[in-house]
This record gives sequence, structure tokens and C-alpha cells, in this order.
Amino acid sequence: MRTQVAIIGAGPAGLLLGQLLQNAGISNVIVERRSGDYVLSRIRAGVLEEGTTRLLREAKVGQRMDAEGMVHHGVQIAFMDQIRRVDLERYADGKSVMVYGQTEVTRDLMEARAKAGAVSLYEIPDVSIHNVETDHPSLQFTVNGEKEILECDYIAGCDGFHGISRHAIPSEIRGEYEKVYPFGWLGVLSETPPVSSELIYGAHSKGFFLCSMRSLTRSRYYLEVPLTEKVEHWSDDRFWTELCSRMPESTASQLVSGPSIEKSIAPLRSFVVEPMQYGRLFLVGDAAHIVPPTGAKGLNLAASDVNYLFRILEKVYHAGRTDLLPRYSGLALDRIWKSQRFSWWMTSMLHRLSANPFDHRVQLAELDYFTGSDEGLRTLARNYVGLPYQDVG
Ligand code: APR
Ligand code: PHB
Repeated sequence: MRTQVAIIGAGPAGLLLGQLLQNAGISNVIVERRSGDYVLSRIRAGVLEEGTTRLLREAKVGQRMDAEGMVHHGVQIAFMDQIRRVDLERYADGKSVMVYGQTEVTRDLMEARAKAGAVSLYEIPDVSIHNVETDHPSLQFTVNGEKEILECDYIAGCDGFHGISRHAIPSEIRGEYEKVYPFGWLGVLSETPPVSSELIYGAHSKGFFLCSMRSLTRSRYYLEVPLTEKVEHWSDDRFWTELCSRMPESTASQLVSGPSIEKSIAPLRSFVVEPMQYGRLFLVGDAAHIVPPTGAKGLNLAASDVNYLFRILEKVYHAGRTDLLPRYSGLALDRIWKSQRFSWWMTSMLHRLSANPFDHRVQLAELDYFTGSDEGLRTLARNYVGLPYQDVG
């Protein structure tokens, strides 16, 4: 088998890159370890930056997002029993964010790919990467008991944090930067109307909470919990009671609770691998970086990587601009580190990082400053809606 771009992983990064390439007449094959249903069953975040929505529209998968997604012009920050609004439009040059679940983005991309007749191979457990230092790289794997070689020009490693791609970069030149946080997020999805029309990020002496949503009838809530916590110990009742105890009273009194339809604990991590390319292999999305979810940047960073790699490959194939290829890692990492900083900072400002009351008081002063001054609100808003993309040249 031969293709121009071989893509490992059918998460949002692989699917979006595949769709953009397909529309540009650049052939590609996606090889995914899991089944399509499994990929769609993963509940992930749901806030899209304008750069992400623009890219999805460019990929011609924006129709349902524009019909069903909710444009949010502000987010709310709760602390000390009060709520402060971050007016995104006012402080981020008229920009807003779109609330539309990652699961829905993935579904739209899968449908578009099937319609375009592009090849996706699912349930392939044994992909291996070969010859990326040469001009004839390939993937090898087994399909229906038969060994298959997929020859290509370039390989896009879109296989997430647990994938194989980044290990194909020799350890002598691979730098890994990591920070693990001593807490996780306990998340609940429920068929209940959201408590607020905008997202609420809350700091409380008992720990962080987040009120989010998937639609006007489906809510997503999170609580900061110690990493040692077990999901089995959290009945729905316990979850709702704890959530209400962390919210300002005026919000708690509006909360509609109901049975959870999903409940899980996710650890928080910051991680970056450098460089993001080696020979003809390019890392994209979670394969190269993880952010704690507090800034809502995970999916958006995957989209900005895709943006850079797609623009470069398009110019390589349509204008012979192979000189642009070495620029990918630097362009992507520049935006990634800034988003890492924002995600780390939001996490530090809103979570219970230490038991020292001094640290807690400093956090409150920081929250007051950033939600109570024009310069603070501008910094928050501009980072939240997403920093601009650079030209690839
Ligand atoms: N071979 C083939 N596929 C693999 C392999 C492998 N060895 N290892 C992992 N995969 C697949 C996974 O099963 C998954 O479907 O790669 C895909 C990676 O998808 P994601 O983890 O969703 O990563 P990505 O596409 O980069 O999406 C970015 O945004 O909200 C964040 O972290 C969240 O998923 C998220 C991300
Ligand atoms: C979510 O809706 O799941 C969500 C929203 C915003 C975040 C993180 C998660 O920052």
C-alpha cells in the first residue's frame, strides 16, 4: 500500500489533518489502534477557540458545530462566595469561544472522512514506524493476519500521549518536560440543564470546581480531588453535595442535579516533547504535549499543530516548498509553550496547591487582581480565546 501522508491515530488531530489533506487532494491513510466506537466513547473537553472553529469550517466539517454549538462571549470565575465575569468580547478584541464537545467534533470528522472515501484502518494493534531518516519512510502493521507495509512520503504521529510516535525520535535528541499535579478532576456528565449560561471556574478552600456544559440540557461538572480518591467512593449524592458546598450560595441554589451518565477521575499533567519532528516524522497533538484541562487548551493545541503541519504540507505538495518542513516544530512549540504557561497558571491559581494558608491568601489576591483590573482581564481573556497562529512562510 502507498499513500502520501500516513497518519497514526484517529483522534481529533489525525482526523482533522486527514480531512484537510483529503480536501487539498493530498492522499492519506489513518491507522488507529482502537475501534471507531471506542474512540467516540471517550468523553473529553468541549471549548473551541476561534482558530479551531475556523479550521473545522475550512475542513468542511463545521455545519453541525455552527448549528448546535453554543457561542460563549464570557466565562465566570468564582471565589470567596462571589462571581466575576470575564467579558471575552470586550477584553479579547471581539473574540468568543464555541462550546461543542470533542466527541461531536470527532463524530463529524469521522462522517466526513467516510463520505470522502478516505481510508481508515481501525483496530490495528501493532503499528511500527520505519525509515523516517530516509526519503522512503513506512508504517508496518498487521491487517486480518496479513503483514502490511504502508509506504509514504511523510508520517504524522497523531497517536496521543500513550502512542508510539514520539519514541521513534532517538532519546539523544528527544527532550521531555513534565509536571505532574498532586490532584485530579472528578467529572460528572448529567442530563440536566447547566447551572449557568456561561462556564464557571471556581476556587474554594476545599478545592477547585468547574461548571461546564455540552448543550442546554446536558451539563458537565468537575471537582478537584486528591489523586488517591476512587471514583467508586463518589455516589451521585456525594458529588452534588460537595459541588454545592464549593459554589457561591446564589449558584448552588440554582443547581439542578440528576443521575450521572458518566463519572470518572482524570489526573492532571503538563508535558512537552521537543523537537516535534525527526526526519519525515511529525508529532501532532497529545502525542507531543499534554496540558492540564483548566485552560481548555488540549484539543485547541492539537488543532493549532494540525494547522501548521497542514499549511506546510500543502505548500510542499502544491508549490514544492520543502524548505518549510524544518519550520514545523519551532512554529508549533512557540504556541504550545505559551499555552502550557496559561494552563499551568490557571491550574495554580484555582486549585488547592498547598495547605499553607499564606499560599491560599496569595491565590485570592491573584484572583482579585486578574478578575478586577483591565490589564488582568485582558491577559486572561486573550489567552482563554487562544493566541493567534503565525504564518508558516
Ligand atoms: N497505533 C495506532 N493508534 C494509536 C496508537 C498506536 N500505537 N496509540 C494510540 N493511538 C490512537 C488512540 O487510540 C487515539 O484514538 O491515537 C489516538 C489519539 O487520540 P487523542 O488521544 O484524542 O489525541 P489527539 O488526537 O492529539 O487529540 C487531542 O485534545 O482534549 C484534548 O487530550 C484531549 O484527546 C484530546 C486531545
Ligand atoms: C468540559 O466541558 O469538559 C471542560 C470545559 C472547560 C475546561 C475543561 C473541561 O477548561
